[in-house]
Amino acid sequence: MSRIRTEVRIGRMMLRTPVTVASGTFGYASEFSGFFDLRILGAVTTKTVTLKPRRGNVPPRTCETPAGMLNSVGLENPGIDVFLKEKMPFLAGYKVPVIVSIASESDNREFIELARRLDHCREAAAIELNISCPNIRHTTARPGTSLIAQDAGATYRLVKAVRAVTKKTIITKLSPNVTDIVSIAAAAEEAGSDAVALINTITGMSIDASSRKSRIGAVIGGLSGPAIRPVAVRMVWEVSRRVSIPVIGMGGICDTDSALEFLLAGASAVAVGTGNFLSPSLADEIVKGIREYMRENRFGSVSMLRKGMKYAR
Ligand SMILES: Cc1cc2nc3c(=O)[nH]c(=O)nc-3n(C[C@H](O)[C@H](O)[C@H](O)COP(=O)(O)O)c2cc1C
Repeated sequence: MSRIRTEVRIGRMMLRTPVTVASGTFGYASEFSGFFDLRILGAVTTKTVTLKPRRGNVPPRTCETPAGMLNSVGLENPGIDVFLKEKMPFLAGYKVPVIVSIASESDNREFIELARRLDHCREAAAIELNISCPNIRHTTARPGTSLIAQDAGATYRLVKAVRAVTKKTIITKLSPNVTDIVSIAAAAEEAGSDAVALINTITGMSIDASSRKSRIGAVIGGLSGPAIRPVAVRMVWEVSRRVSIPVIGMGGICDTDSALEFLLAGASAVAVGTGNFLSPSLADEIVKGIREYMRENRFGSVSMLRKGMKYAR
């Protein structure tokens, strides 16, 4: 086969390969730069940043579970000023599109302020709206829900408001902790989001019978890793069939085959998350593995691969 084209377009961003990293699992990239050449990635997604620094949640913040982990880091981060001054210059040196994940501690105004600031930042290729972190509480969603991503109306209003202040590519990160993720994705698309990313973690708990305490300080945490992959693949498949904007799929990717599951389900790109902790060069292996699979199976482009799923009768 002639040339294999692995590039994909997400909004105004061109990714050289359909592989990025999941927010919060790759730090600000410098931590991983000794393991592989970051330029092989389609994009780097940063840990979520808020307007002010956050100390995060009480420990213990993580625990191992069958085929996964629970975390309740609580968006610990140095705040946007320190991020732009100290973290961004390193990322900018790599010439890989940088997706900056942002969140609010309270209401939409913080998202808007952050988006405004990033709109002036040449190094930021895209803004990912983390409206789905299960480890902080919001005041903007409907009573009875705690996340913007659990409410189609709140999602629409936020994306619309952010769209009004930035021309950067907007990616909306969705929560699996909903009954109908498709309606939330559709609301994000209608409001002007350029792409959706899914899934964030699934809320979960683990109790130590001997201490009779939760293994997580904040009691409830977010489940990630291979345990959640079938849920994530199903949601990516459902959302991809309904929206026309690109989907970035994630949840339990731990090798090339599991990354391919998401692309075959309709994702335009994938993000490696918890897998980075077990194998820091996993994303590098997956980029090479996808290329190899495309060559062997004669997929000339990622969009061909996305349409490559066979349906049993
Ligand atoms: C320790 C940890 C920290 C995370 N921090 C963030 C974060 O700051 N922002 C965010 O949008 N998602 C965060 N996530 C969720 C991941 O980006 C991803 O959506 C989720 O873990 C599912 O992918 P995975 O199973 O491959 O890890 C975090 C996940 C873990 C495990």
